[in-house]
Amino acid sequence: MLDRLTLAAAWIREAPSVAALTGAGISAESGVPTFRGKDGLWRTHRAEELATPGAFARDPLLVWEWYRYRQRIIAGARPNAGHEALAGLERGARDFTLITQNVDGLHARAGSSRIVELHGNIFRARCPVDGSLRDLAGDEPETIPLCPRGHAMRPDVVWFGEALPEGAIALAESASRRAAVFLVVGTSAVVYPAASFATIAKQSGARLVEVNVEETPLTGAADLALRGKAAEILPLLVPGAARSAVGE
Ligand code: OAD
Repeated sequence: MLDRLTLAAAWIREAPSVAALTGAGISAESGVPTFRGKDGLWRTHRAEELATPGAFARDPLLVWEWYRYRQRIIAGARPNAGHEALAGLERGARDFTLITQNVDGLHARAGSSRIVELHGNIFRARCPVDGSLRDLAGDEPETIPLCPRGHAMRPDVVWFGEALPEGAIALAESASRRAAVFLVVGTSAVVYPAASFATIAKQSGARLVEVNVEETPLTGAADLALRGKAAEILPLLVPGAARSAVGE
């Protein structure tokens, strides 16, 4: 393991361009439940049942209650050493892009700034009628936030069956093509198109390094698969990057 960590660290250090794709696993040690893990159920519901336009049309209150529950967990969570290592990587690298499927905002709170949020942000609501946005961080308003004209706002996140924001796809794609090293961290790699960025990077010549506690469908394509917790492994890949989280 030590040899493989040293090798991955050297690849990262020497790469002219690095990109990372993160998923819920990187926030697990901050206490944010993953989607498909054993703690992925809320009441009796699975994420795949609630994070859909159909679920919201049927029962907006139920969906918002789930998002309010998750917002409370995330507001009380802190970025961990994995988030901090990636923020450190951005500070030290020539070209680094952080592509995340997470909607928890913990990367930004750890100090990362070049972040492509593929699936939106849980602390933002969007009006489906006029597209206006509302920042929900810090306040605990009514369970269902309302548009200026009284419609129900929706969480500004991407649901199953919905398209990803075009700007985010374009940024993620070009970063994946440029990358000499592509890190895949804490994602089950079953949700598309997010997982496809790892494949794009690999096909464009990147070395693929996976950090996960388990095997995933991407493990076979990985040049190095590092088994373990993101908060333990990432600081070893980016030595010297750790520092206390900004503003926490
Ligand atoms: P998942 O819950 O599907 O997968 C979490 C991954 O993290 C699994 O592969 C775990 O093995 C791994 N993991 C757990 N703890 C870890 C740790 N401490 N260190 C490293 N890895 C760990 O979450 P995502 O892959 O992020 O989409 O799910 C992708 C998308 O599906 C989410 O963005 C969300 C969801 O439905 C939308 O909401 C659109």
